[in-house]
Amino acid sequence: MIVTIDGPAGSGKSTAARGLAERLGFEFLDTGAMYRCVAWSVLQKQVDPADEAAVVEVSRQTHIAFSDARVLVNETEVTGLIRTPEVTEVASVVAQYPGVREELVRLQREAASGIDIVSEGRDQGTVVFPDAFCKFFLVANPEERARRRYDELQAQDKQITVEEILDQIYQRDQRDEQRVVAPLKAADDALEINTSSLTRDEVLDQLEKTVRKRISALSH
Ligand code: DC
Repeated sequence: MIVTIDGPAGSGKSTAARGLAERLGFEFLDTGAMYRCVAWSVLQKQVDPADEAAVVEVSRQTHIAFSDARVLVNETEVTGLIRTPEVTEVASVVAQYPGVREELVRLQREAASGIDIVSEGRDQGTVVFPDAFCKFFLVANPEERARRRYDELQAQDKQITVEEILDQIYQRDQRDEQRVVAPLKAADDALEINTSSLTRDEVLDQLEKTVRKRISALSH
């Protein structure tokens, strides 16, 4: 059984997807981490992110593995390394390339094959798993998303203003929403939830209730 959670950065989908998987006893797939792994490899190999053919080639050579909460690329642990602002920026560039997406979509379908999973990203309900059992699309207003990101970066001691973050968010949203292949958008049959004024537990309660209701409807 597949549950998809899509939405923009800062909508709370990562926390929600992880928490929902735990509550349901499902596996969890962070597909954004996969695009970040490709971006990290591109930077590591000093490939120009604008060179599409070279980036696609890197994506084919990047072996990504998840082990508990750890992320590995060709057996090197990159869990923290893929969260830097530089990787974040390059990830949104490489995610525009159809060849990269094709490769990662294949891996995502493979990872979900035959198991119960909550898969989180931008295109999980629209492109990767159009027949998913339950689809969610999480949104939050940009100011709230910037505030969450600011708190995260403060905890890591990074010097940046809320205004700068807001600016980056608008730029990334634009790139994610306007790309030709698999743009960020809600599937027609996704349930949209605005998390701006909800706590983590309130979001989780809503998600869990929806999935359990559908599961119980199956047996009636
Ligand atoms: O969710 P995130 O910030 O870790 O995602 C990193 C980048 O990858 C972001 O620019 C959007 C992109 N992405 C995507 O295009 N498709 C996905 N399924 C997941 C992420």
